[in-house]
Amino acid sequence: MGEEPGQELSLPDPLQSADGRPIASVEAWQRQRRPQILTLFREHVYGRSPETPLETQSQLLEMTADALGGKAIRKQVALQFKSGDSRLTINLLLYLPAAAQSRPVPVFSLLNFNGNHTVYPDRAIRIPTGWVPEEFRPAEAFRGARGDSYPVPGILARGYGLATAYAGDIDPDFDDGFKNGVHGLLGVPGQRQPDSWGTIAAWAWGLSRIMDYCLTDDQIDHRRVTVLGHSRMGKAALWAGAEDSRFALVISNNSGCSGAALSRRRQGESVKVINDRFPHWFCQNYRQYNDREEALPVDQHLLLSLIAPRPLYVASASQDDWADPEGEFLACRYAEPVYHLFGLKGMDAVRMPAPDTPLHHGHIGYHLRSGPHGLTAYDWRCYIDFANTHFHPAGKTKTNE
Ligand code: GCU
Repeated sequence: MGEEPGQELSLPDPLQSADGRPIASVEAWQRQRRPQILTLFREHVYGRSPETPLETQSQLLEMTADALGGKAIRKQVALQFKSGDSRLTINLLLYLPAAAQSRPVPVFSLLNFNGNHTVYPDRAIRIPTGWVPEEFRPAEAFRGARGDSYPVPGILARGYGLATAYAGDIDPDFDDGFKNGVHGLLGVPGQRQPDSWGTIAAWAWGLSRIMDYCLTDDQIDHRRVTVLGHSRMGKAALWAGAEDSRFALVISNNSGCSGAALSRRRQGESVKVINDRFPHWFCQNYRQYNDREEALPVDQHLLLSLIAPRPLYVASASQDDWADPEGEFLACRYAEPVYHLFGLKGMDAVRMPAPDTPLHHGHIGYHLRSGPHGLTAYDWRCYIDFANTHFHPAGKTKTNE
């Protein structure tokens, strides 16, 4: 499979088991092929997340129904984890539309790159106390600095809440030999294995902990929690969606190499380049595929197929060659057979759409936004439109009526 004019890719078939047998039923997919694929990604790409039991507790640090001039509820919650003498805290920031006071609302969960305070210019938002990237110091000076990527008022006005945490609370984004963050909390120093988890899997773990919290909050619609991520956080969102089927909708924004883009195409960023530049993101085994993408037992369409039958959305940007927009589109296409097995429409398109013409026909949404790499208000509009289609199939387009 996977043959396009001018480029012949030999891709692993989602519907063929490791022993060569065809996978012809939902049952065979769920029982056999899906676990096989998940294991391959754990072993060869993202690494295995430890199943070490943790003492966990969540503490509501503050809450107000007066945020955004009374239009929103704001909560800040400390998710605390303990293992032996070590501790880790993920500071969760929630904005929910005021309507959540009378009935639960759907929520987008996502990790931010530089601190919760960069998401929205609200002086009450706590500043991270740990490491932040150098260009975002001093942290206090960056309140609301990433607001263009998180249009909070617009998201709330459409009836959705936002649950976000700083990725650095889970694992700071630099190579420190896996000592800090959740690797330090759960790892045994000096005992890393070739398939031990990297930072992308750690962030995905953190997203699942946000999901755990969401299930305890009665103002959140537990069946409508989306996981979304941009770029490196898009890679983490896809892996979280694959590992944790409680996420009802999974969205990858410009996730590129080792996210939604097919590795075998070697367009834009390659496996070698990503491993060399970000040695902490993946498991050590992944390095075996530097300049040998064709030897990988998986490719990224298989990651996308793990989301089925839940709705999936992949978005690219027209000037984002580094993330290989066409490779992202094709990965969606080659994930489609699994959606078809469930009797669902996939993306339902053979050719890449023109910029700014979203494909929202089936269970795989896709758009190519014109412009550079980024998460924009346009992307959010598309995500909310798509979420409305799947969360409110009766034709309701708004959730705040
Ligand atoms: C770099 C990296 C990408 C990543 C991106 C980002 O460009 O090479 O793989 O997606 O950073 O996270 O912004």
